[in-house]
Amino acid sequence: MSSYLSLLDATITHLEALQAKGVRTVTVSPETLQLFVPSPRKPTATPARSASNAPVGRPAASERVPLEPLSPPPAPSPAAPKPTAPRTAAAAARWNLAAQSAPAAGGAGLPPLPPPLAGPARAVAFETLRKKVLACVKCAHLANSRKSVVFGVGNLHARILFVGEAPGADEDVQGEPFVGKAGELLTKIIQAMGLTRADVYIANILKCRPDTPGQTSGNRKPTPTEISTCIPWLQEQIDLIQPEVMVALGVSAMEGLLGKLDVNISRQRGSWTSYRGIPLMPTYHPAYLLRNQSLSEKRKVWEDMLLVMERANLPISEKQRAFFLAK
Ligand code: URA
Repeated sequence: MSSYLSLLDATITHLEALQAKGVRTVTVSPETLQLFVPSPRKPTATPARSASNAPVGRPAASERVPLEPLSPPPAPSPAAPKPTAPRTAAAAARWNLAAQSAPAAGGAGLPPLPPPLAGPARAVAFETLRKKVLACVKCAHLANSRKSVVFGVGNLHARILFVGEAPGADEDVQGEPFVGKAGELLTKIIQAMGLTRADVYIANILKCRPDTPGQTSGNRKPTPTEISTCIPWLQEQIDLIQPEVMVALGVSAMEGLLGKLDVNISRQRGSWTSYRGIPLMPTYHPAYLLRNQSLSEKRKVWEDMLLVMERANLPISEKQRAFFLAK
């Protein structure tokens, strides 16, 4: 093992030990952080979509960053080409480090999006990826407990990608994301947007159901190690789909995408951030809406979806705008 990888492994072990003790942040100087970042390669011929500098939190009106139109894609920012990185231990380490250094937008340190693949090539690449994911045993405990690997579902050319946390019991049985009670609500939300599940793509941060040894029911949040192990699969799905807009459903989806552990969904929902240059809208997880039936929380999610529809240039009827006003 190279000294670079040894150093990364030692760092991962150290950070995980701190995390296990409940430590949530460590101070890392910019100089030290720089030691872990491979030298940037020259930017590729196809530029990444420009990363929005929108702050993660809801900024004061005067600080809000104007939204860029989706098409044509904005020119790449000349500042700081994003370094490329292998999707290995180093990627996992970067997820952890990013969690500590709290970048404003998600995916910092990841390679820019590759040139999009055309229809047939995309389908072939997706199938190849699907086979790899279905055979994944990187988390031995989850591979042992799962009934299915829940890869993702929908349109490979979707303009909108919904990202959830992890499969629950229903998804584990059926092998498809969001098919239980929360999934039914997500389907209704998608339909209220004038779309179907086949128009969008739906995936999770984790492809396997988090195990709950000794319990006969209930779910648990994915651990940081599980997320950092699994997130490269989602990154590859995003490389292939290249959606125009992404929606993070709940805290874990945001934490996984942004590599942060301090997400405050009620503060961050409704404000755009970005994931590798793709506009990213955080909103509440449908399961939260099932637990909290208040109209005001449902309305917030709908307001977030109206922003998503605007950003994806989807038509919005008066009825859709007034959806919650009419209730
Ligand atoms: N919750 C999620 O986050 N994902 C699913 O697929 C189902 C429930």
